[in-house]
Amino acid sequence: MIPATLITHLQAARRIVVLTGAGVSAESGVPTFREAQTGLWTRYRPEDLATPEAFLRNPKLIWDWYSWRKKLVTEVQPNPGHYALAEIENYIATFTLVTQNVDGLHQRAGSHNVLELHGNILRTKCFDEGTLVAKGDENGSVPPRCPRCGGLLRPDVVWFGELLPSDVLRQAMQAAQTCDTFFSVGTSALVQPAAALPWLALEHGAVVVEVNPQATPLTDHAAYVLPGPSGVVLPELVRAVWGKNSPSTDENHHPGRSEANHS
Ligand code: OAD
Repeated sequence: MIPATLITHLQAARRIVVLTGAGVSAESGVPTFREAQTGLWTRYRPEDLATPEAFLRNPKLIWDWYSWRKKLVTEVQPNPGHYALAEIENYIATFTLVTQNVDGLHQRAGSHNVLELHGNILRTKCFDEGTLVAKGDENGSVPPRCPRCGGLLRPDVVWFGELLPSDVLRQAMQAAQTCDTFFSVGTSALVQPAAALPWLALEHGAVVVEVNPQATPLTDHAAYVLPGPSGVVLPELVRAVWGKNSPSTDENHHPGRSEANHS
């Protein structure tokens, strides 16, 4: 299933960037955003729950919704896809994991060099000051209040209409421009500016690999498409490329979609 030419390429790769999206956590039980039936944004409207305006209109509703999601992510476990990415970091000289996910599952699986583009739902910050707050002044108020200024506390995630943390985005862009291999894993590749990263990598000559059971706007431009769940595909990739007994690659090579885009 992993094309032989991709295995050879990865065995010599020095600088790898992986961009992940909600799909990588789907097998842990964290809902994605845009998938029919199960996606959060098919059940809720982002403008009602994920904008500063929505928070100011109804801070309790937004706090409660994020508390529900926060509880959900603390109760699930990283899946084999997260662990495979943590393992690849050990084999590659310069490895950068750029994630749009706010669930912290990559770090729990052991990844170290993680750039969180959209923040982290487990952290809390003051709405007014923007400073991180370890523990809010509960005092029965929902949301709790900032212990310093008394302002409302909010999750440290990026809402629609807000800027991404500029230093994190800068590092992600720099990594995308200088990598030899760029993986886009479990993301619909629709939300900017994250969605621009694989294109940046393409422009700078990287080999782009997509891991996703569904096609995205990137699919036709990727050198390799591995169309399956990341919790299955990524461990298989690690075994094929870095495993002690790599399976004979030609036997596992399926011509067709997985290599159809390789130029
Ligand atoms: P989406 O919900 O837009 O896309 C999830 C992608 O994961 C889809 O392309 C699925 O086909 C794919 N997928 C599902 N299960 C998978 C699996 N087991 N393995 C691999 N892929 C799988 O989520 P994102 O692309 O992450 O932003 O969305 C980007 C941003 O939009 C999010 O970070 C969030 C959202 O609004 C903010 O909250 C700021």
